[in-house]
Amino acid sequence: MTDIQDADPRFAELLETIYREWAEEVPGFNAFKRKIGLLISSPSARVFYHCDPAGQALWQIRGRKRIYLYPPTAPFPRPAELENVTRSVTGEEISYQPWYDDYAEVYDLEPGDMLHWALNGPHRIDNHNEINV
Ligand SMILES: [Fe+2]
Repeated sequence: MTDIQDADPRFAELLETIYREWAEEVPGFNAFKRKIGLLISSPSARVFYHCDPAGQALWQIRGRKRIYLYPPTAPFPRPAELENVTRSVTGEEISYQPWYDDYAEVYDLEPGDMLHWALNGPHRIDNHNEINV
């Protein structure tokens, strides 16, 4: 579910609180686009290697998952592929090679954990064998 801040004022308030706290901690911080979504995914679901040009942060509410974060520089996102994703010429999935994993930071997220990463940083996700929210 995307843009849930428009559907329920409680999420609008949560979104405002998150951005206000970031602005308090990061001088000059000013996000021009603020959105919040709710992802519910199946046990053992996988999200393949991709990048999100808008940037993102992830809060784990329920279940556990492993996330692999890759450097935001070539060759992990190849410039031509990143441009195509940004221009919506292609989807968010980009080329992946198994050796990229040698350069990944790996985190196991549990309920209550939060993670964000560098803009354009490719990532992929493996859910553990439980529903994830
Ligand atoms: Fe993503």
